[in-house]
Amino acid sequence: MRSIRHIASINDLSNDEIGAVFELALKYLDELGDPDIPHRIARSTEAANGVVLATVFFEPSTRTRLSFESAMNRLGGRVITSADPATSSTAKGESLADTVRVVSNYADLLVIRHPRDGAVRHAAEYAHVPVINAGDGGHEHPTQTLCDLFTLKQKNASLKGLNIAIAGDLRGSRTIHSFVYALARFGANLVLMPAKGMELPAHVDRRLREEFRCIMAKPPAGEEASNIDALYVTAKEPHQLSLIPENVDIHVKLTSRIDALYVTRFQKEREPGRNYGKYPNVDQEFLKDPRYSKASIMHPLPRVGELDNKLDDDSRAAYFEQASYGVPIRMALISLVMGLTKEKSLARFAGGFAPEKHPLYADPKREGVACRNANCITHDPLEQASIHPKFAIVPAPTSSKSVLRCHYCETDLDEVVLGDRKTKQLGDVTALQSMSAKELAGAVFFADLATAKAAGYS
Ligand code: NCD
Repeated sequence: MRSIRHIASINDLSNDEIGAVFELALKYLDELGDPDIPHRIARSTEAANGVVLATVFFEPSTRTRLSFESAMNRLGGRVITSADPATSSTAKGESLADTVRVVSNYADLLVIRHPRDGAVRHAAEYAHVPVINAGDGGHEHPTQTLCDLFTLKQKNASLKGLNIAIAGDLRGSRTIHSFVYALARFGANLVLMPAKGMELPAHVDRRLREEFRCIMAKPPAGEEASNIDALYVTAKEPHQLSLIPENVDIHVKLTSRIDALYVTRFQKEREPGRNYGKYPNVDQEFLKDPRYSKASIMHPLPRVGELDNKLDDDSRAAYFEQASYGVPIRMALISLVMGLTKEKSLARFAGGFAPEKHPLYADPKREGVACRNANCITHDPLEQASIHPKFAIVPAPTSSKSVLRCHYCETDLDEVVLGDRKTKQLGDVTALQSMSAKELAGAVFFADLATAKAAGYS
């Protein structure tokens, strides 16, 4: 049987696989596009003849859904869609797990957007066809990142060493979370300019530093007015990490030439009622700063005021081009995930830098700690019968303590307390990494000592 590949995170694709998506997308553009049209759109092929794609969207979308559907149509396949939760069985109280089990019988590939973090990883556990994440809460949006990276690749010889500034809501923007992981994995440097209180989530920052070779540094003196909050320098080699933070020249080099400025809107639906102060407003005035003189201006769209329409004719504006790549990129991804052409399927490109897989701890009876992200799919009332907490055990290179990372939304839990289900004894969390699969199966983790004691552990 063909093994099924789900794309719930950008980290489900290795660097070589991302390269293969780009190569095929270029082929669709070059062979099928019309070079006289400024943002070339791929023309139709018959590669997906007889294949059905289902777009199952529980949140608003224009670009992502329509470009997936256009991509499938241009590949010669067919599309069915459920785009309005109010008219689907969700309105009757059906779980995502049941919806996915059923729709898996109607389509060969599912593309899902959902308001809960980690929903697509959960859906993938119930689907018997491949599932692609079209945005799950504030977690990730991997196919937007493929469009973003491809735009950068079209404009630069290499992603390595590029200085990418990222402004706006870094906390709630799923596009940014996938984007920063990918940039770090390809060796780009990050210049973070969050609106106040909208810094990267702690677990994203941790992964950049601990898994993806980034060194976090504060901006050089005199940068107060530029709203730069942090710099992440990607080490050329994994073991060079300690060398960079002290080197002031590198800080200056990083902030004096920005190759791309990526902006997003405030994701107000993620935390309704939350007030925020000043939000970046990217306009001609903002871009007068010489550091942006050659920067591509990027935005996943929609824009709602933070990016001035007057920039549309500026040669640096890249956002509509970025959106235009939605079709060839998604054609390429569908083709590779489905293995539509004999010689090309994702399995053939498994090499290259890819995040490590960690041992999993599951808590089927919900005895121990829950994910601390309130928007995680594990807390969705509709899913309670179909999901239980599961965590990856991730070593922390800078300390002896491992962290538990939610398998679904990837939020980290540290400072947990370990117990043995059988003996009801508390254990040593520093020894987690050396636990056997059998020991792990008998383990239960609590949020703190008081909860462990209340549950009868000592
Ligand atoms: C983004 C999303 O849905 O996360 N839109 C998109 O897919 N291009 C960005 C956003 O909504 O702000």
